[in-house]
Amino acid sequence: MEEKKKVIFSGIKPSGELTLGNYLGAIKNWVKLQDEYDCYFCVVDLHAITVRQEPKDLRRRTLEILSIYLASGIDPEKNTLFIQSHVPAHSEASWLLTCYSYMGEMSRMTQYKDKSKKSGENIGAGLFNYPILMASDILLYQTNLVPVGKDQLQHLELARDLAERFNRVYSPTFLIPEPYIAKTGAKIMDLQDPTKKMSKSEENQNGYILIMDPPNVIRKKISRAVTDSIGVVKYSDDQLGVKNLMTILGSITGMSMEEIEIKYKDKGYAEFKKDVAEAIINELEPIQKKVNEYVADKKYLESIYKSGAEKANYVAMKTLRKMQKKIGLIPR
Ligand code: TRP
Repeated sequence: MEEKKKVIFSGIKPSGELTLGNYLGAIKNWVKLQDEYDCYFCVVDLHAITVRQEPKDLRRRTLEILSIYLASGIDPEKNTLFIQSHVPAHSEASWLLTCYSYMGEMSRMTQYKDKSKKSGENIGAGLFNYPILMASDILLYQTNLVPVGKDQLQHLELARDLAERFNRVYSPTFLIPEPYIAKTGAKIMDLQDPTKKMSKSEENQNGYILIMDPPNVIRKKISRAVTDSIGVVKYSDDQLGVKNLMTILGSITGMSMEEIEIKYKDKGYAEFKKDVAEAIINELEPIQKKVNEYVADKKYLESIYKSGAEKANYVAMKTLRKMQKKIGLIPR
């Protein structure tokens, strides 16, 4: 008998254009998981609307992310690719779990605290509740493993707490998910301030590379990337800019940090940067071409997200029905 594969769930929200950080830190690694695991890769549009979105940009980005998943090599036959809002169980489970969450634990979420410091009293309630929606995403699929960055670990911890609480109050309902720490997953930093994670929300556009940036823009941004006056290509915390460029080159080419150090031993930063830029372009150009093809083929995309939603809905509904029944809601 075929052994049941472990379940992986992850998602990206369509609140901005995706960066090289999203690609090298997440999507490129997801491609490697698809044979070994039963993967759900979601475009989490309901998470994006925690801040105001221009409707037409939200629509465009949602389909673009789906196209990026496909263009990067995520096989829609092997995995479940879907759009979060197409599976109503996410919203429903989120309300149910809200009723098992405490103001105290929610108020301790550092991402929320950081954001509320900036926005004050007018911060949206959606941003406060967001981790519960994320917990629903994960728990509905009886997920074993969640590939996430460090910034999301606290949210995953909440998902675990909510699952354990619900299981304790009633009876085992949810599997307790664990973080999946990728062996190769690279954390890509801002090109202008390599102490910060590369992010599309940074104001300085030279700090990030978008997956869809054209070659000349990539060359320009890499040539302007912050380095140092040491002048040696070395993987060191004293040279965060160079270290970041090495990480990028390594995760694209598969070269180890030592191999990169040796290759650029007597060479200047200019030559090193040129190679980094060309490696990025070689990696992204074929993906961009495919993304543009997918985006233009609305019918095909529709067939992918419809069958994805159908598969996801089936699994999610099973868990949602269990939750409703245990809580005491009358079955439909
Ligand atoms: N909150 C995640 C982020 O901002 C996105 C996300 C939503 C997610 N639901 C998820 C990630 C479920 C993993 C699993 O990056």
